[in-house]
Amino acid sequence: MTTSFDTAFQLSSSNLRFGAGTTREVGMDLEDMGLTRTLLVIDPRLADLPTGQVVLESLRAARREFEVFDAVETEPTDRSFHAAIAVARQGNFDSFVAVGGGSAIDTAKAANLYSTYPADFLDYVNAPVGRGKPVPGPLTPLIAIPTTAGTGSETTGVTIFDLIERKVKTGIAHRYLRPTLGIVDPDNTRTLPPAVAAATGLDVLSHALESYTAIPYDRRPRPERPLLRPAYQGANPLSDIWALEALNGGRVPAASGGRHQ
Ligand SMILES: NC(=O)c1ccc[n+]([C@@H]2O[C@H](COP(=O)([O-])OP(=O)(O)OC[C@H]3O[C@@H](n4cnc5c(N)ncnc54)[C@H](O)[C@@H]3O)[C@@H](O)[C@H]2O)c1
Repeated sequence: MTTSFDTAFQLSSSNLRFGAGTTREVGMDLEDMGLTRTLLVIDPRLADLPTGQVVLESLRAARREFEVFDAVETEPTDRSFHAAIAVARQGNFDSFVAVGGGSAIDTAKAANLYSTYPADFLDYVNAPVGRGKPVPGPLTPLIAIPTTAGTGSETTGVTIFDLIERKVKTGIAHRYLRPTLGIVDPDNTRTLPPAVAAATGLDVLSHALESYTAIPYDRRPRPERPLLRPAYQGANPLSDIWALEALNGGRVPAASGGRHQ
């Protein structure tokens, strides 16, 4: 029997704003989206750094009501997810803002999911660890402000955590988990400890290499229906452009406006 290969790939793009200084726009974004009550999920190390201060000032300037959840664990666990979910469930929030690396953004995604569609925790967790049930519908708006270079969690429909009891790292994956908006402000990486800057830079390099060398989309089996085409659909002409640009080191944005180098 001959395999029927796929002939299509799909660009399902994220909503991203890139630029130095854009963190201060988050309060205005909430205002423009008509959102009034926000759970701010922030990495505790960032709360007193310029990033945290700018976010707080922005929310206050826009007169948004908000609560802070800062018990984010680095490399989050189901324990820290549960803590965030509990706060999200009782607060009647109409929006989430996540500030930090993948650990904080993924925590906000879980808090959003289980407060919007309450369920047994393992219901949405990837099979075979969990039951792999699909997310029932769109989530509450989430604005993600990454402060590391590597995970790209602001663009993905994935949240990753350690399930302590079973000693496994697993996750939840569904397109509805993808943040409504990612505010990518290079200024937020200025305070990264050198080791984290290097590690998250290598994360970018690995993602680009993986993407460029992945099995091409037209060497994968054709799905029976478009919904079954995987999110990670293989190397394709568009992802090759991004991957090669990342492998080249990318263009360096000018510090304060002006043209790129
Ligand atoms: N959701 C996804 O699509 C996705 C993809 C890949 C990885 N991940 C997950 O993301 C997590 C890792 O995220 P990460 O690599 O972005 O790092 P992180 O969020 O775990 O942060 C690493 C460390 O750097 C500190 N830190 C972060 N930003 C800082 C800043 N600007 N200044 C000072 N300190 C700062 C944090 O407090 C922490 O100690 C892992 O759990 C990983 O499994 C998620």
